[in-house]
Amino acid sequence: MNKKEKVPYVVTSKSYTAVAINCAAKAGEWIKSRIGTVKQLSTKTSAQDLVTEVDKGAEQMIRKLILTHFPDHAILGEEGVEPGAEASMKALEAAKEEPYLWIVDPIDGTTNYVHGFPFYSVSIALAHKGEVIVGVVYDPSRDELFIAEKGKGAYVHGNPTLVSKESSLSQSLLATGFPMDTSFNLPQNMAGLQALLPKVRNVRGGGSAALHMAYVAAGRLSGYWELGLNAWDVAAGALLIQESGGKVTDTEGRPYDLAVRNVVATNGAIHESVLDTLSEAEATGFRKD
Ligand code: IPD
Ligand code: CA
Repeated sequence: MNKKEKVPYVVTSKSYTAVAINCAAKAGEWIKSRIGTVKQLSTKTSAQDLVTEVDKGAEQMIRKLILTHFPDHAILGEEGVEPGAEASMKALEAAKEEPYLWIVDPIDGTTNYVHGFPFYSVSIALAHKGEVIVGVVYDPSRDELFIAEKGKGAYVHGNPTLVSKESSLSQSLLATGFPMDTSFNLPQNMAGLQALLPKVRNVRGGGSAALHMAYVAAGRLSGYWELGLNAWDVAAGALLIQESGGKVTDTEGRPYDLAVRNVVATNGAIHESVLDTLSEAEATGFRKD
C-alpha cells in the first residue's frame, strides 16, 4: 500500500443492535431538542408531504454513525431517496439484495413534529439479504425505546413486549393512517375505515406508522393497517410485532417483506377478521384492473 494512503479508522466489536440503539437515541435526543425551532419547512409530493431541515440533519447524523461502525453496509434512508412512491420502490429494488441494508426513517411523523404533537419516532432497521434482523423505534417524547432482534424477542424499557389478547374485532382498538395520495389510496383507506370502525371499539390515527406498529407489539393497540407506506415506515415495526407474537402481512394476507406497502399488522388473533373486512369493502389498496 502507498504509504501516503490513509487507512480509514473503523470502530469494531459493536453489535448491530447497539449501533441501531445508539443512532436512534442520539438522533431522537437531537430531534426533540429542535422541536419548535424548524426554519426550513418544505413540501415533497404534495402540500401535505412535509420535510424539514431536522429530518435531513437527523438522517445525516444516523448515516455517519452507521458508516463509522460498518463502512461497507448500505443505507436506504427516506431523505436520501427522491420523493414519491415510484422512486421509493426503485430505490428499494436496487438496494434489497445488499448483504447488509440499514433502513432509516429519521422522523416518522414529520407532520406531528412540525405541529408539536408529541407522537413521532426514529425508525431504524437492519436487513440481512432482505430479511429484517434488527428493528429499533425510538419515541423521544416519552423516552421509549422499542428494540427487536430476529429470534431473540422484542423489548421496551428492557421488558419483553407481547401483543394484546383481543380475539374479536368488537374488543379491539385499531389504528390507521391517512394516505397522502388522494386519488386512490385515500379513498381506499376511507372505505376500509368505514367498514372497520363500526366493528371495533375505536380507531386511532396517531400519525406515525412506526410508532403505531411499536404499540401493536407492546399490546397497546390490537392492530393497525395503512395503505401506501414505504419500507422505512414499516421495517423496524414489523420485526417488533413478529418478535412480540403478532402478525404482519400485506392487505391481501401475503407475508411481510420489505416491498410491502399496504400493511395489516395485528396481535394475530384478529388478523383474518381485519383482512376479511378490508377485502369485503374492496379496500385493500390493490387495483383490481
Ligand atoms: C408518515 C407517517 C404517517 C403515515 C404516512 C407516513 P413520515 O411518515 O408514518 O403516520 O400516515 O403514510 O408517510 O412522512 O412522517 O415519515
Ligand atoms: Ca420521515
